[in-house]
Amino acid sequence: MTTTSSIDPGAIGSLRIAPSILAADFGTLAEAVATVTPGTDWLHVDVMDGHFVPNISIGPPVVQALRAHTDLYLDCHLMITDPGEYLEPFAKAGAQGVTVHAELGDLDSVIAEARALGLRIGLAANPDTSFEVLDRYLDAVDLVLCMTVFPGFGGQSFMYEVLPKIAQVRLAIDERGLDCDLEVDGGIDATTTPLVVEAGANVLVAGSAIFNRPDPLAAANELRALAQAASAH
Ligand code: DX5
Ligand code: ZN
Repeated sequence: MTTTSSIDPGAIGSLRIAPSILAADFGTLAEAVATVTPGTDWLHVDVMDGHFVPNISIGPPVVQALRAHTDLYLDCHLMITDPGEYLEPFAKAGAQGVTVHAELGDLDSVIAEARALGLRIGLAANPDTSFEVLDRYLDAVDLVLCMTVFPGFGGQSFMYEVLPKIAQVRLAIDERGLDCDLEVDGGIDATTTPLVVEAGANVLVAGSAIFNRPDPLAAANELRALAQAASAH
């Protein structure tokens, strides 16, 4: 098993496919992960506390269990009200990256603490959270996550109205020369992949469009091929 610190997140800005295990069969999670691994760059782990979002999913014990079965980079999306309380448990469990929500307010200390723990830090924005809320953090984070559904559940419909914000974040990253990935999450499938890539996203999270398909690996590879074709335009 690779040591956690040696897991490479890949080059900033490069295309990454990040299957969301929320849509996998939790009863056979390790097998589901193994199935998609050849087509996977990051594994997206949705953490929900029943407070920030109206659903409860998984936490550090599951990350720790997964860590024993995979060498993939674990991209932990913290849909929780008190991320600062849980950064250390996630780091110890084997996460490499955590993403916290901009709607929580002042995040300076959370960002600093994540860095001190050696975690990559991302900032997520709900569909109705404006670019302006993200703006002041852009040079302090490794990743911006534009939610293309309201967080809490898999299988929702993509919100096309988020596309201009994705383009706005991409423009800011490029104009300012920032070392920052741009991730999208929610309703990403074969139809929406070209749209988000054309808008500037480079990390694509997909749950249902991968794990709810008869051949999850083929589905992940198809999304990658569509994203590569779109980014070549
Ligand atoms: C939603 C989660 C997503 C979810 C995406 O709150 O953050 O990561 O798993 O699921 P799909 O791809 O089915 O929309
Ligand atoms: Zn997510």
